[in-house]
Amino acid sequence: MANLINESFTLPCGQILKNRVCKAAMTERIASGDNLANQGHINLYDMWADGDIGILLTGNVQVDRRNLEGPANVVIDKNNYKNQLSNLKEWSAAGTKNNTQLWMQISHAGRQTPGEINSSPMAPSNIRLKIPGKNYGTPVPMTEEDILDVIEKFVFTAKIARETGFTGVQFHSAHGYLLSEFLSPDINNRNDAWGGDIENRARIHLEIIKRCREEVGEDFPISVKMNSADFQKGGFAADDSIIVAKMLENAGVDIIEISGGTYEQPKLIGVDDLTINPERSEQRKESTIAREAYFLEYAKDIRKAVSLPLMVTGGFRTKEGIEDALQSNICQIIGIGRPLCVDPYCIKKMIEGELEILPSFEKTLSLGPSILSPSSPFTIIKAVNAFGAMAWFYQQIKNMAKGLMPNHKQKLLNALRADMKADKLALKDYLNH
Ligand SMILES: Cc1cc2nc3c(=O)[nH]c(=O)nc-3n(C[C@H](O)[C@H](O)[C@H](O)COP(=O)(O)O)c2cc1C
Repeated sequence: MANLINESFTLPCGQILKNRVCKAAMTERIASGDNLANQGHINLYDMWADGDIGILLTGNVQVDRRNLEGPANVVIDKNNYKNQLSNLKEWSAAGTKNNTQLWMQISHAGRQTPGEINSSPMAPSNIRLKIPGKNYGTPVPMTEEDILDVIEKFVFTAKIARETGFTGVQFHSAHGYLLSEFLSPDINNRNDAWGGDIENRARIHLEIIKRCREEVGEDFPISVKMNSADFQKGGFAADDSIIVAKMLENAGVDIIEISGGTYEQPKLIGVDDLTINPERSEQRKESTIAREAYFLEYAKDIRKAVSLPLMVTGGFRTKEGIEDALQSNICQIIGIGRPLCVDPYCIKKMIEGELEILPSFEKTLSLGPSILSPSSPFTIIKAVNAFGAMAWFYQQIKNMAKGLMPNHKQKLLNALRADMKADKLALKDYLNH
């Protein structure tokens, strides 16, 4: 079998990656209510940087304290950055050892901000998110001034990332957060310069990239994580993603990461449809479902239109699948998420020939037999299983942040309870600040 996984790769900006694997962004949710980086982040990335991974992407770091994905997110803004400069430097020192790249994923949660954090989050338009058992407020459509302000917020966070030793940035425009909301015609119904045709819906991305390049320079990797599709009828479609990929290439992005789905359609973790309107759901391409990599078929179509490097994330588990994808030249980098919560050193073991299949518990993490499986037709059950599995992965991230190894014996319900308790405390702490 070919061994491309361990080959180095040079990005358009000239930076060299030591191999072809990226730890995908996974939100850590370990900041205190002040939303500053802390010792937990340093411990976590210190561990992952021992795992022979080319790029470590951080979990989503937010640009606005009122629009978070969770109360324990790290936020970097003009008000708080001075209070965390030394921790950010220690975080980057830990995550860049062993010639590892450490890129900060930068985000704004938009309408996916939990209602308990903000009952009137900012979004392109006022279309509310509805997920069973969850509370999201009706968004306030952003004014032109809000949009220009948020562009500068993204750029500011990227500038601090570079100044504190992170070796690249990624703008999160996937999974239904603010930037991807702009791309989605069913969520962005603006009729000004920031909505309507795809040129307008992608404008905020191009402005951020242009301003970011001015601030961070030509030799600093800039990446965008983008949906191949939202899998929502009337949403961001695969044809749109090809057009946006071309625009991002022309704008000077170094690498696009391809994922897919939203909170309503969590196909990013292989789960179908949590909406209260399942008839609005669109299925993934069959050929993709059959193979391990959820979005490789979509990336194949994007590859035909662009020549910049692509990373594909979601579902890769076997050395054979990874090598096949790299060999096909559809993508140059493979993103790996959940297996690195089960074993932080699993990539090193795969590269050294000790492992052919990455450890992954997602198939066994469900409440029970078939009726309760993630493919169950019952939305509530599906939601419990999907949230429970996520809780399990969050718990393992928290263990590693304490310097402990993942606890493979932890049961799904126990993880769910622990995660709900931690979320409650984090919210209280956040609201007290
Ligand atoms: C616990 C957890 C947290 C995640 N947080 C983020 C995030 O902050 N940003 C992001 O772009 N994707 C996030 N994701 C999605 C992953 O980056 C990745 O796309 C997904 O897990 C599929 O890859 P995998 O099959 O290798 O796990 C998260 C996934 C998990 C399991």
